[in-house]
Amino acid sequence: MLLATLAIITATAIAFVVTATPPDRPMVRTTGEATVGGPFSMVDHNGVPVTEESFKGKVLVLYFGFTYCPDVCPTQLLALSDALERLGDKGSDVAPVFVSVDPERDTPEVLKDYVTNFHPSMVGLTGSVEQVAAMADAFYVTYYKVKNVDTAAEYLMDHTSIVYVMGRDGKYLTHFTHATPPKQMAETLKQFL
Ligand code: NI
Repeated sequence: MLLATLAIITATAIAFVVTATPPDRPMVRTTGEATVGGPFSMVDHNGVPVTEESFKGKVLVLYFGFTYCPDVCPTQLLALSDALERLGDKGSDVAPVFVSVDPERDTPEVLKDYVTNFHPSMVGLTGSVEQVAAMADAFYVTYYKVKNVDTAAEYLMDHTSIVYVMGRDGKYLTHFTHATPPKQMAETLKQFL
């Protein structure tokens, strides 16, 4: 009884702010077409407003995370950077984009320092809490604040960790996970370039 109570208290303490809930729509239409993605309105790391139209004509590689992330985001962005290097000149047709799920701390200035450290062509996106929530929802990305007891950061974000690949027309092509080696990412991306 005591243990069960403790478990409930702990669970409540950890997930203390839920900022996004899983979308309840299917990820694939009855036609077989994926429903991932769609219009979005955000601000890039130079403070310039951008939409999905800003990336048309490029293969968009999207990853959602936050700059305070201690390990998952840096590991994934390093892998992505490695994949981009493997593409050589062809990589210029790829737009690697890091979307913040922590807009309260990830200002354009913070994002600029962060993304350009991983790759010169990487673009950071942020926006209002509502803009970020809408874009994350379109990509089935969920995230929530988790109270942090280990480091100086007040909170961390628990978030979906998937790399989405969107075609030149903005439509979903495929995705990568933490288990996809950079070499395989590069080979897959090459097919779309
Ligand atoms: Ni992360």
